[in-house]
Amino acid sequence: MCGIVAVIGTRDAAPLLLDGLRQLEYRGYDSAGVATVEAGGLTCVRAEGKLLNLTARVEREGAPGHCGIGHTRWATHGKPEERNAHPHLDAGREVAVVQNGIIENHRLLREQLQAEGVQFLSDTDTEVIPHLLSKELKALTAAGAAATGATLLLALQRTLPQLEGAYALAVLWAQCPEALVVARKQAPLLIGFGEGEFICASDTPALAGVTRTILPLEDGEVALLGPLGIELYNAAGERQQRLPTQLKGTDHVADKRSFRHFMLKEIHEQPETAARWLARHFPEGGPDDPLVALPVEAALLEGLQRIQVLACGTSRHAALVGAYLLEQLAGVPTSVYYASEFRYGPPPLGPDTLTVGVTQSGETADTLAALAMEQQRRADHGDPAYRARLLGITNRPESSLGRLVPQLIDIEAGVEVGVAATKTFLGQLLAFYGLAIRLAELRGSRSRSELHGLVAQLRALPAQLQTLIDRLDLRCAALAHEFADTQDVIYLGRGINYPIALEGALKLKEISYIHAEGYPAGEMKHGPIALLDARVPVVSVAMPGRVFDKVLSNAQEAKARDARLIGVAPEGPDTEIFDVLLPVPVVDELLSPLLTLIPMQLLSYHIAAHRGLDVDQPRNLAKSVTVE
Ligand code: F6R
Repeated sequence: MCGIVAVIGTRDAAPLLLDGLRQLEYRGYDSAGVATVEAGGLTCVRAEGKLLNLTARVEREGAPGHCGIGHTRWATHGKPEERNAHPHLDAGREVAVVQNGIIENHRLLREQLQAEGVQFLSDTDTEVIPHLLSKELKALTAAGAAATGATLLLALQRTLPQLEGAYALAVLWAQCPEALVVARKQAPLLIGFGEGEFICASDTPALAGVTRTILPLEDGEVALLGPLGIELYNAAGERQQRLPTQLKGTDHVADKRSFRHFMLKEIHEQPETAARWLARHFPEGGPDDPLVALPVEAALLEGLQRIQVLACGTSRHAALVGAYLLEQLAGVPTSVYYASEFRYGPPPLGPDTLTVGVTQSGETADTLAALAMEQQRRADHGDPAYRARLLGITNRPESSLGRLVPQLIDIEAGVEVGVAATKTFLGQLLAFYGLAIRLAELRGSRSRSELHGLVAQLRALPAQLQTLIDRLDLRCAALAHEFADTQDVIYLGRGINYPIALEGALKLKEISYIHAEGYPAGEMKHGPIALLDARVPVVSVAMPGRVFDKVLSNAQEAKARDARLIGVAPEGPDTEIFDVLLPVPVVDELLSPLLTLIPMQLLSYHIAAHRGLDVDQPRNLAKSVTVE
């Protein structure tokens, strides 16, 4: 949540900061600000709303200097108003701070500072930091310290132990225009090495326009950045030496091409996402070669008794499909937990349990905290059968998740800009298909020819996705008109398509602001059916297989209550009961979620776009949820 950028070098800082913030807007977009410093002092410009407002203001008012910091905000403490926008300053307007995270003891610190006469101008937790830094700087300079980067660094090192919580922050000091300092604790921060400049940011897309040489900060580290070099220190104040690494090719944000929104472009990219993943992980091999090539050591999977999956939102829906596959294909009992619930009520420890964390961003605080807790409680257990077997599934291998878990499946979906997850959802599903087929192969729970058959069908997926998207895009756009006044929608699915009903409802809620609920179709009659009437459309996923007839009967029950029925189902006599059909080709039921997700995404996209809403940046949301 929130994105920060900091630059120091030989060029004007403001344009670089604004470019960087543009790439980070997915992390929050309710206000933004920059501060720059030069010999004449510190300039701070902030604006409520989207980055465009800040850009216009910076163009009008100017922000001179080669050293600066910037922030794009997702409100945690304090409403999305200009006075709560970062950077925050001390009373003398000498110290400027941007922060991503939460300072948990900010109330106590605020009270202590207020008792000393400090007046606060915002409701944020961050504002305590410039005031604390200012005190430290005053004490140091009063004791004879010069106005140098080293003094600023020391002030920060004295301030950080006073802060509780998770944060990434960057600081400027008016008295020292040739230095800035940064720090991270449980929130991401990377330093990029440009030509004659350093740029620091919460995420790689903000660096990619300047450099591909990066150094991710480790937890607890602080860095002093000057125009000529950086100094890195650990939490104990010891100097660190580490070589930077190179960004991978996909770590930049592409433009929208001819698409109206990133979300639509990313929906259309899914055939390519699938083709890339399948080529890499389901290589054509001889009859005795392993069916799946996954970067997961066999020891992690051997002798499993149980799997538990921790995730949030859309990632959790992918995990629910995954659990179905892991149980039905590989025969391993699997439970899926909301990461935010797991941490405070974990199930009793069991032996030989694999814990899988699923997060496209790799930065979701709830998921990371739940995984860290699980790792710790297993490490604390003496019996080796209880060792922590941890696996991550993510689109960002360089993320905090990548540093937390020993083994990782990279879904390689490319940067997803739209806040609503689409191609990363498909990528997560494919990772679970890979994992389940690999486990089924290892455990012999399904015959090799059966698994071969599934893999052969999977290879047809990219072409099927392409045909489906081409066919349904216009159909969903036309259907969207019918939802102009809709206030509630019910999504029904069963078995392996129940999570797709949940995902359809979530997609609609988050980008169109229409209330929607997903239910297992058989559960309708136990209460939710009371909601139905002619004003509540029902979207029903009915794919041939074990529960086909059952879902169709449940759809009939809804129709009998006057609900308008939209079917996500194959064409044929059975599906004539639907008022509108979004046709999906018949495939093996186990593979059907890979196709039924498409009408869900396109329908919610077109409904939101038809309503004229900001599809890529829906209200109150952010792409990377780094607060608990
Ligand atoms: C919905 C959506 C969110 C995320 C959730 C978890 O479209 O994107 O529900 O799925 O915030 O995010 P990650 O996968 O980054 O952990």
